[in-house]
Amino acid sequence: MRVGENIEKLVPYVPGKPVEELEREMGIKNAVKLASNENPLGPSPKGIRMLKKYIKQLHRYPEGGCYYLAEKLSTKLDIDSENIIFGNGSNEVLEIIGRTFYEPGDEIVFSQYAFIVYKLVAQALGAVYHEVPANNLGHDLSNMLNYIHPRTKIVYLANPNNPTGTMFTKKEFKDFMDRVPENTLVVLDEAYSEYVDDPDYPDGLEFLRKYKNLIIVRTFSKIYGLAGLRIGYACGDKNLISYMNRVREPFNVNTLAQFAALGALDDHEHIRKTKEITKEGFEYLYKELDKLGIEYVKSHANFILIKTPMKGNEFYDLLLKEGVIVRPVGGYGLPDYVRVTVGKPNENKKFITAAKRALRKKDKGD
Ligand SMILES: Cc1ncc(COP(=O)(O)O)c(C=O)c1O
Repeated sequence: MRVGENIEKLVPYVPGKPVEELEREMGIKNAVKLASNENPLGPSPKGIRMLKKYIKQLHRYPEGGCYYLAEKLSTKLDIDSENIIFGNGSNEVLEIIGRTFYEPGDEIVFSQYAFIVYKLVAQALGAVYHEVPANNLGHDLSNMLNYIHPRTKIVYLANPNNPTGTMFTKKEFKDFMDRVPENTLVVLDEAYSEYVDDPDYPDGLEFLRKYKNLIIVRTFSKIYGLAGLRIGYACGDKNLISYMNRVREPFNVNTLAQFAALGALDDHEHIRKTKEITKEGFEYLYKELDKLGIEYVKSHANFILIKTPMKGNEFYDLLLKEGVIVRPVGGYGLPDYVRVTVGKPNENKKFITAAKRALRKKDKGD
């Protein structure tokens, strides 16, 4: 069957193997997975409670517009429910944006080292895209403006970015938004916003009223711990959201995801504990990496990009043999790095012990 050249050339997203399978292959036990920026504390307990309550409703189709969740989120975020759309993970939301607004001949812009899905969306659409050189591994917003032309339809920004953990400031973002033409849509991906502590961090919601060409994307996969259920959302001008609603599949978000998210939104204790364990994890990891003389990028999310003392893939393989799974990021054009999710204290410790052994093996040349 013929497919378009854009599909032929698509490089599929490479998911990690299941932990159990890796343990079997490597002959190891109690492997630790620090590869997918998941919440090490698990799903929100309040979310699970709600999910259990609705499990008996699985013979019914889901509520197509995520009615109850939209109501709750609209109160929490102080915006109208018409300004919100949900997706099967924020990944689907990023795709719906592409499918809704892209027209043949349009261009898409994102940063070098930005979250890989922006490129995948652009390629799947067959769009002309520009990957703007990063500055110190982060988004260079002022240079990104140089790539915006009359045919630029969508700019994807990640703040903080995955896999670099970098952040741009309120001032940088405002200067950027003030210069972007109104017919270019800016998609601000805030998958890790709940983790950010920096007073200079721009809360996308505060910009929504002023800029009608802005869409914010968030997820329940990270701090809420619901990655396996697949649910995320976007907020934006109601006209933009209504166009996206025309494109989205009618029952795109399953019932359990909707109700677990509803419970998780109220789970302040889970969020507090997650932030605390992440902060402590960073303190420990930075201190230990400094001692080992391993360079890393200071992160605003729940993971660290580490410059490996050998090729990233080699480091990944050595860690794997020690039962620690991290994420090589060669596919991002970062062959000398790996990304490590902050885990529970014992998991972080296991990673550091494994890194030490990997370094020793490398020194000995075996
Ligand atoms: C920056 C960013 N955006 C979006 C996503 C997609 O998350 P999900 O589809 O699980 O909501 C991720 C996942 O890692 C991410 O890092």
